[in-house]
Amino acid sequence: MESKIYLDYNATTPVDPRAREAMQPYFETAFGNPSAAHALGREAKAALERARETLAGLLGSTDKDEIIFVSSGTEADNLALLGTALAYQERGRHIIASAVEHPAVLESCAALEKRGFSVTVLPVDGEGMLDLEELRRTVRPDTILVSLMHANNETGVLFPLDQVGVLLKERGILFHTDAVQSFGKVPLDVRRVCLDLVSLSAHKIYGPKGVGALYARRGVRLHPLLRGGGQERGRRAGTENVPAIVGLGEAARIMSLEMPHEGERIRRLRDRLEAGVAARIEGVRVNGHESPRLTHTSNLAFDGIEAQTLVAALDLEGIAVSAGSACHVGSVQPSHVLRAMRLKPAQLQGSIRISLGRPTRDADIDRVLEILPPLVARLREHAPAAR
Ligand SMILES: Cc1ncc(COP(=O)(O)O)c(C=O)c1O
Repeated sequence: MESKIYLDYNATTPVDPRAREAMQPYFETAFGNPSAAHALGREAKAALERARETLAGLLGSTDKDEIIFVSSGTEADNLALLGTALAYQERGRHIIASAVEHPAVLESCAALEKRGFSVTVLPVDGEGMLDLEELRRTVRPDTILVSLMHANNETGVLFPLDQVGVLLKERGILFHTDAVQSFGKVPLDVRRVCLDLVSLSAHKIYGPKGVGALYARRGVRLHPLLRGGGQERGRRAGTENVPAIVGLGEAARIMSLEMPHEGERIRRLRDRLEAGVAARIEGVRVNGHESPRLTHTSNLAFDGIEAQTLVAALDLEGIAVSAGSACHVGSVQPSHVLRAMRLKPAQLQGSIRISLGRPTRDADIDRVLEILPPLVARLREHAPAAR
């Protein structure tokens, strides 16, 4: 059996051994509760604060208290949306988000609509890009928050946040971005972009699962979702997951050190993959190709193929990729992201996501280019009517 090839790094990543090593003492010898006053507690607290400082610094903030540790990117998104909406509702009850946001944002918007808020969902074009003029037209006097992701998890398309930040700041509207997929891969400076809130998650950057962070600019009010012991300056109660937070800090530090050369290395692999697929297979489209994209994400639409079938066939060959977003596993609904891009029905059904990562090498791309063309041809032969 050939060795397995994992190409689903947007779903999750393995923990970097250096991050795992940094975490280890906080499970065992340095196990104190960071809220405790004794030496063990202080040691844990110091570790939390170091991680906080690292994350703040990587986002261009000099104020580590702007970082709130949470359980996931999902919780960060929920806290950003629900926390600010409930805190600012006396100012207005209108929120704007794009149609391609992660469900953690879209479902939070839906929950707010049930509470009487009004939500405008901004469309994207065929390349997954936002229309800034449309955003300008949509802003109202009662708009309190705009939530636009930095990089899309399915297509990798990057939104031009810096052009949005200034516009919103002039109008006193809070600006949130879900940077779960872009953090550590593309620079993001909260001061330069005029961001008020940023969601992060550790398991997309070779940190552990079940930990994330929300950057909230000093002065931004948040209605807490969890109440209790007053941790995280009262913004998120619950004893902090110290080992996981240490892992997040270390994983982020390593990402930032490796960002420039790793981004280029992966871009070369991704470009070779896309060019190789285009040269060997007819009827393929790279979704979001014309837009700025993350260098490690390739969303490919194959005419006449059922994406789920192709993913399963690749899995049998030891190659792990995903159909649409991993968060939708088990769902037969076509991806809401690709639907928002108004792909033709055949392309909507036949899109897979290949996402590259730190362990990806040329040999992995070679193997995909060897396996994929005959597999696609075989599947098309068996489903000619779908073309
Ligand atoms: C863009 C985006 N936001 C949020 C999340 C949720 O993060 P987590 O898995 O940490 O809850 C994901 C995970 O897939 C994501 O891709």
